[in-house]
Amino acid sequence: MNWKEANAYLNAYDKIQAQSQRYKYLLEQHLKALSLYTSILDFGAGTGNLAVELLKKGKQVTVIEPNKIALDILKRKCLHFRANLVSYRGDDNRLEEFPPNSFDAITSSLVLPFPRDIPRHIANLKRVIKPGGILCISAWAYREDIEEGAINKLEAELKEKKLLEPENPNNVIREWDTILQGAHSLTATILERKLSRESLEQLLKTNEFSVAVEESAYKEYAYFLTAKSEKSKT
Ligand SMILES: C[S@@+](CC[C@H](N)C(=O)[O-])C[C@H]1O[C@@H](n2cnc3c(N)ncnc32)[C@H](O)[C@@H]1O
Repeated sequence: MNWKEANAYLNAYDKIQAQSQRYKYLLEQHLKALSLYTSILDFGAGTGNLAVELLKKGKQVTVIEPNKIALDILKRKCLHFRANLVSYRGDDNRLEEFPPNSFDAITSSLVLPFPRDIPRHIANLKRVIKPGGILCISAWAYREDIEEGAINKLEAELKEKKLLEPENPNNVIREWDTILQGAHSLTATILERKLSRESLEQLLKTNEFSVAVEESAYKEYAYFLTAKSEKSKT
């Protein structure tokens, strides 16, 4: 994608997600799980829809996000709260530069399974989270029908609100086309990574997290779990 395409995609992402009850509910689940913590890392923060809500609640937020255009949108969205925001462009390489025990909590919403080396990623999260801290993950499920699962319900919501009708002056037809074009490569990556909920849970347990799974608004298509970092036995 060139700059123009990526910018159109990310603006469409925000406009479409603003109509999605599932997404709204998922962000609320993250916010609820993080309510008791102060210093929070939002990994793969995207355009900042969760980060801005955390900032509104007075949290100190650090974001790591590889996509420069997303990060620019995020910074604009969070401008009013910039005193409590630290932002980095990057991925696991950036995470490895943080000292141990840097954060009370870490949140990762709809980012997994995109990091290429998931065992390395979880080990990195373990290192930078404080003992007793919480890791809050919503992750796309590894399912053959993930593309339909991610798309169909959202399309039905848009149709119900008459947002895909050309006569509606507020229609989101152009944005929805943009999302559909991008969805294919995202779902191809999900299928390539083959990260099941069970294998992620196992990986978290190996890294001394105790895991609790909650039902998510995306049902079987994206799961939600919280993982508490236990004190290391070594
Ligand atoms: C579906 S978006 C979710 C964005 C945001 N967390 C949200 O809930 O709206 C996935 C995000 O993961 C980011 N991402 C992809 N690969 C990543 C990696 N290896 N490390 C960190 N972030 C990554 C993308 O740039 C994108 O912003």
